Amino acid sequence: MDNNDLGSDIDKVLVTEDQIKARLVELAEEIDKDYAGKDLLIVGVLKGAVMVMADLARALHSHVTMDWMAVSSYGSGTQSSGVVRILKDLDADLTGRHVLVVEDIIDSGLTLSWLVSNLGSRGPASVEICTMLRKPEAAKVSIDVKYVGFDVPNEFVIGYGLDYAEKYRNVPFVATLAEHVYK
Ligand code: XMP
Ligand code: MG
Repeated sequence: MDNNDLGSDIDKVLVTEDQIKARLVELAEEIDKDYAGKDLLIVGVLKGAVMVMADLARALHSHVTMDWMAVSSYGSGTQSSGVVRILKDLDADLTGRHVLVVEDIIDSGLTLSWLVSNLGSRGPASVEICTMLRKPEAAKVSIDVKYVGFDVPNEFVIGYGLDYAEKYRNVPFVATLAEHVYK
């Protein structure tokens, strides 16, 4: 087998490229409406949110600024530890700002609930969440998520920014991996 061939590593496609594009247009419309007349800062959580940030930002019609944060709650495996480290903090001062955190996926919710309270302590006017994917069955804490792209089953997924051991982020759709990949 050619080990550079992505196709043989994919099990099921859960969300197609077209579905992602169409959903982002809908979410962007809502965000444009909800933040009309407000100064919005969108915060991407590296590295997984790179794709959704890039596509969502271009689907928006309003003026936004973009900033990035990197946190770590996973090693190279597939289980959330709940212990969050800031690897890269924001450049922006959040005082009085409307902040929209943009995530690739909410799994247990542990990372994001930590992040929202961390950002909330910096004096923003508001903090809301937009996530491309959510695993409702995996939730360990309840978080208010204002914008959700798709709910997915409680399986490890890759693609559209999401990785397995840093691979597959560039896959343009969301999928589960074939069993042979994990072995
Ligand atoms: P939690 O469990 O804290 O997840 O909500 C935090 C981060 O873990 C990553 N994550 C995944 N990455 N496939 C991935 O490639 C998955 O199924 C998955 N589940 C969680 C993701 O970066 C998320 O922000
Ligand atoms: Mg992530």
